[in-house]
Amino acid sequence: MKTFRKRVRRFISRNSVYLVFIFISVSCLLLLFNSSLPEVSWDITTVGSHEASLPCRISDEGGLGEFGDMMVAMLPDDLAFTVFVPSKIAFEKILHLRANESLTKENVNNTYAIVSRVLGFAAIPRHLPYGAVPMRKEIMFDSISGFKLYAWKDFDGTLVVNGVRSECVDTRRAETIVHIMKGVIMDAEFEQSFSPDYEDR
Ligand SMILES: *[C@@H]1O[C@H](CO)[C@@H](O)[C@H](O)[C@H]1NC(C)=O
Ligand SMILES: *[C@@H]1O[C@H](CO)[C@@H](O)[C@H](O)[C@H]1NC(C)=O
Repeated sequence: MKTFRKRVRRFISRNSVYLVFIFISVSCLLLLFNSSLPEVSWDITTVGSHEASLPCRISDEGGLGEFGDMMVAMLPDDLAFTVFVPSKIAFEKILHLRANESLTKENVNNTYAIVSRVLGFAAIPRHLPYGAVPMRKEIMFDSISGFKLYAWKDFDGTLVVNGVRSECVDTRRAETIVHIMKGVIMDAEFEQSFSPDYEDR
């Protein structure tokens, strides 16, 4: 009997060693599995926000450019404004403004007039951060010159204003929120004055 009990005890103690070993192994596996789960979901959210690629950092792109800076400087920096500034390429391609030509003594007044006119179309007297624009639902604003602006977000999350798509959003200059646009927000009449036909007349 004594040897039998001893055997049983030995068996249990051996088994418990195995049980403890198995328990620890399963725990370790579960821990590894659990700790890998949040990483996976982090990856998904990071990829999701990268896909919209908004907001982007203006400093990486070399700032707003001469004309963008000129436009923002026309607004008081202590009041809430949002301005949809044309990108450097849009200033050059659409408004024909070039830093080396448009800032010369004979052209700077005309340049200033163009930039202030665009500001009138493209600035609203309130803060409109990217996050405040609803998905696929249009919201309307009056610009500071009374031009109607329709803002929405496209399927990919891009901010769109009057059909003009954004390049970078949510840059701050004091109290002004700046969104960089891939085009120029302006009325049809003003747009006409930049068409090649108009220049030929
Ligand atoms: C200004 O620069 C552009 C290219 O960026 C060039 O084509 C043009 O000739 C230059 N104009 C003057 C006046 O230097
Ligand atoms: C630009 O405007 C200033 C001030 O209004 C004026 O004194 C100057 O003559 C203008 N320059 C040109 C080239 O028209």
